[in-house]
Amino acid sequence: MRSWLLVLPLFVSTGLSTLLVRDGSSKVIRVPFSKERVTHHQVNKREPAGKTALQKLDNKDFLFYANVTVGTPPQNIRLHIDTGSSDIWVETANSEICKRAEGRGCEVGGTYNNETSSTAQYVEGDFSIMYVDGQYASGVYAKDTLGIGGVGVKDVQFGIGLQGTSEEGVLGIGFERRQSRVSSGLEPYPGLITQMVNQELINSRAYSVWLNDLNAAAGEILFGGIDTGKFKGSLATIPLSRRTDLPSAIDFIITLRGLTIENGDGVSRVLMDESRSVPALLDTGASFTYLPHDIANQLVELVGAVTVPEYKGPAVNCSKRALEGSVDFEFAGTTIKVNIRDFIVDATDEPNADNHILCYFGILGMDEGSVLTLGDTFLRSAYVVYDMDNEAISIGQTIFNSTSTNIVEIGSGPNAVPNATRSTDADSIPVTATAVSGTANSPGAKSTGSPNVSNSATTTLHNVSTKFLISSLVSILSLTVLL
Ligand SMILES: *[C@@H]1O[C@H](CO)[C@@H](O)[C@H](O)[C@H]1NC(C)=O
Ligand SMILES: *[C@@H]1O[C@H](CO)[C@@H](O)[C@H](O)[C@H]1NC(C)=O
Ligand SMILES: *[C@@H]1O[C@H](CO)[C@@H](O)[C@H](O)[C@H]1NC(C)=O
Ligand SMILES: *[C@@H]1O[C@H](CO)[C@@H](O)[C@H](O)[C@H]1NC(C)=O
Ligand SMILES: *[C@@H]1O[C@H](CO)[C@@H](O)[C@H](O)[C@H]1NC(C)=O
Ligand SMILES: *[C@@H]1O[C@H](CO)[C@@H](O)[C@H](O)[C@H]1NC(C)=O
Ligand SMILES: *[C@@H]1O[C@H](CO)[C@@H](O)[C@H](O)[C@H]1NC(C)=O
Repeated sequence: MRSWLLVLPLFVSTGLSTLLVRDGSSKVIRVPFSKERVTHHQVNKREPAGKTALQKLDNKDFLFYANVTVGTPPQNIRLHIDTGSSDIWVETANSEICKRAEGRGCEVGGTYNNETSSTAQYVEGDFSIMYVDGQYASGVYAKDTLGIGGVGVKDVQFGIGLQGTSEEGVLGIGFERRQSRVSSGLEPYPGLITQMVNQELINSRAYSVWLNDLNAAAGEILFGGIDTGKFKGSLATIPLSRRTDLPSAIDFIITLRGLTIENGDGVSRVLMDESRSVPALLDTGASFTYLPHDIANQLVELVGAVTVPEYKGPAVNCSKRALEGSVDFEFAGTTIKVNIRDFIVDATDEPNADNHILCYFGILGMDEGSVLTLGDTFLRSAYVVYDMDNEAISIGQTIFNSTSTNIVEIGSGPNAVPNATRSTDADSIPVTATAVSGTANSPGAKSTGSPNVSNSATTTLHNVSTKFLISSLVSILSLTVLL
């Protein structure tokens, strides 16, 4: 958050009243976002219902927030960004939840009042969205001007939440075919990004996300642009997987072609080779990374994490951050390296607490037949362009905490994304109900011995600490409900 204020003070401003005159040649909308950890009883990560059945972790998650304005004059609202859903909705002061919270409800996120906006338009139909984690919002639709990154986008349709579980709205920026009303058999309406293109604010429906180190306060989204200062080398363009029953892609699913673990000394072992290629969903709405059970188990073992049944996921001594080495994710034309330490996520916010030895290990097992999910523990190491027009992802290795900036416009047409190359054999596995490779449990894929990842890390969590871990988890996160 701080660094944005220093780097680009102009764009931090959110009011349309301070709408900037942008360089006419640059059709890029730059939106910094902040990250916040929330506990399980607050808003959770969102995934539209019916997407991928994820094991849901009731732990602390990172949410990404962007400041926007709605209406004329602008009303300040912060929304939580979600690439995995496609509806925008905002809170209103007279919603059940905002009224209930005794005056301070919805204060943090802000609310929208259509009666004081001269650009508010009535839209017929009821709004309703349900997320996989049980969160929901329902109300009415509206259209108004949405101010984002210092730019006003007119006639943006969104929901006004009248009932629901969350005090803060969502900025869903996935495919329009993912809009909640489409699941009721209705046609999608033009989403925010389509409106940006229609109003010639950007050239094509594409945006890039720099999640950055999760410990860094900020990241950025560029609608219609990339920032070559934020990744190494060039980007690899990978086509999205289509669902066999649909004519076009509706999810950011690409093919993961291999997985290798490397120690700090360059010794490596293949965990998954190309014969086991699988579709994998890139999802900022998921905190962790979900790999086939046998692979996840090998990694869990390898770092000495302990699977705590009550918590449904692995916990690890934070001292394991001393482990060197990386997990290398291979895609057509590129490899994204994720440091092993970057899978180790703090379980508590208090750095000096005695029990700050407890971390989560951000890799979980996923059942066969499900599309794998590459969540934040993977995505922060990647610079990702979500190119909806071309149904492709362009991906490169991120540069953590980069302060260098070189924003380049994304054009239109097949090679719209600059600095991106599509390798000739970049194909994608269509997604079916049995999308995950049938070889998931083949003996050859099993661990063949103790991997040589690092000799720098020493301590392992012994069985004896499992009880301790559980009780720590319980006390730290109040997960009593699970026990
Ligand atoms: C959003 O606005 C708040 C209040 O003005 C400010 O503190 C915060 O830094 C802004 N966040 C971003 C990501 O610009
Ligand atoms: C304004 O929002 C309310 C809900 O808060 C809704 O009932 C009403 O129809 C909206 N008015 C217009 C003009 O959209
Ligand atoms: C990035 O910055 C954050 C916040 O200052 C820091 O905690 C983190 O260690 C940095 N990451 C790297 C890879 O330097
Ligand atoms: C990326 O694009 C810039 C400007 O278009 C160009 O100068 C640079 O050489 C490109 N870099 C790579 C690695 O393709
Ligand atoms: C592990 O790596 C170290 C250093 O690279 C090497 O000396 C050692 O022989 C390796 N051990 C095994 C079992 O491969
Ligand atoms: C965690 O690691 C630290 C440092 O190696 C060690 O002192 C501590 O005993 C470990 N805690 C547990 C529960 O294993
Ligand atoms: C840990 O527990 C497993 C199964 O509960 C047992 O087989 C193993 O011997 C235990 N290891 C230690 C070091 O106690």
